[in-house]
Amino acid sequence: MSSSVPGPSDHRADHRADHRADHRAASREGERPRVVLGVSGGIAAYKSCELLRRLSESGHDVTVVPTEAALEFVGAPTWAALSGTPVATDVWTGVHAVPHVAIGQQADLVIVAPATADLMAKAAHGLADDLLTNTLLTARCPVLFAPAMHTEMWEHPATVANVATLRSRGAVVIEPAEGRLTGADTGKGRLPDPSELFEFARDVLTRGVSSPDLAGRHVVVSAGGTREHLDPVRFLGNSSTGLQGYALARAAAARGAEVTLVAANTALPDPAGVKVVRVRTTAELRDEIVSASVSADTVVMAAAPADFRPEATTEAKIKKTSDGAVPELKLVQNPDILAEISHERSREGQVIVGFAAETGDATGSVLDLARAKLARKGCDLLVVNDVSGGAVFGSPDNKAVLLDVDGGAVDVPHGTKAALAHAIWDRVTRLLDETPAGSDRQ
Ligand code: CTP
Repeated sequence: MSSSVPGPSDHRADHRADHRADHRAASREGERPRVVLGVSGGIAAYKSCELLRRLSESGHDVTVVPTEAALEFVGAPTWAALSGTPVATDVWTGVHAVPHVAIGQQADLVIVAPATADLMAKAAHGLADDLLTNTLLTARCPVLFAPAMHTEMWEHPATVANVATLRSRGAVVIEPAEGRLTGADTGKGRLPDPSELFEFARDVLTRGVSSPDLAGRHVVVSAGGTREHLDPVRFLGNSSTGLQGYALARAAAARGAEVTLVAANTALPDPAGVKVVRVRTTAELRDEIVSASVSADTVVMAAAPADFRPEATTEAKIKKTSDGAVPELKLVQNPDILAEISHERSREGQVIVGFAAETGDATGSVLDLARAKLARKGCDLLVVNDVSGGAVFGSPDNKAVLLDVDGGAVDVPHGTKAALAHAIWDRVTRLLDETPAGSDRQ
């Protein structure tokens, strides 16, 4: 069965379609959000059982639509039992309910995981020879593809072109993770962690925005705290866990950005669709940020880099001495990464965001000190945390003031770090849009 309706993005510009979507959401207030989990034929289908479980257990009404090939990997009884709904691959089952149209029309979100090269080729070309491909043509909600395949297939020009087509129509194609593939080989092509795919899907669903406003943008985010070693076992460090930086990376990916996350000593799972680069010291963080920022539209320095490092690091562990003498530590200053990338912009129109945790002192209030820091560092936006009442490190929540170079200050009330992340991206997208192409923000 085929359909002649246009693809999702054509409809995003179509007011009648928007009206239909609004009407659907309004008439279903209080109902569970409807998610279609499309599964195409790849070995990673087994990981989608976990994604399904998380979606169902968190109150979503999930309809699984596998392809015939997907059922070679995970059988229909598993999908039916985990979702509590019968599954079909063809358009002829229960045809009185017109499933080839109804499932897509009624969905609040469609996520295809894993999405094979073949499935994305069909979707890009509007083919509709089974229930899943028909559903993709009738869906008017956000559509996510989570590809999983061997690196060669992911990098093939045909797949690259199909992914570009899907993205240009407003679908979000999540970058695959790197690591061990089905055989002994490693590379890019793994399905991201199901728990992170779940967070991704939930983020898109909660925001209810169908157009990914950071699509086509490359954003670089730093997270965590750097460590400066005195010897092989001891270091100078800080308590940053990286939660806020990870929330920023996750939110940017859900808004369609290409995301590079430079993570210093974090112990968090890689967010779906995000390239993670690991560093330990401020010098390593500086090198990765400077090189990634060359192609970045935005850099957000959420990391807590150590400002000082020991002048020398010993190869052997420093021992106590019997006379009770303590070693003398000579420290040298580390580079100020935020100031460097802000003052030596590598790209026109780049938006650079810094963080400041302040307490206020005899010389000024939190905002006075933050304004001085914004001017000193030369960035475009400063996210100011008032930490007078206690640290935000490790907490799932945060609150902040977003201070911009023009003196504007926006209060972001107490909420989750994900909510603060979206408030920051809301501000950044406006700054990016304000910059006329070809002009320099400085
Ligand atoms: N930062 C940086 N490089 C450093 C230190 C900090 O890029 N060596 C960045 C942080 O990632 C953050 C911002 O600068 O975005 C402010 O960090 P903060 O620790 O408040 O700034 P400091 O320069 O250390 O200022 P001070 O200690 O004087 O308050």
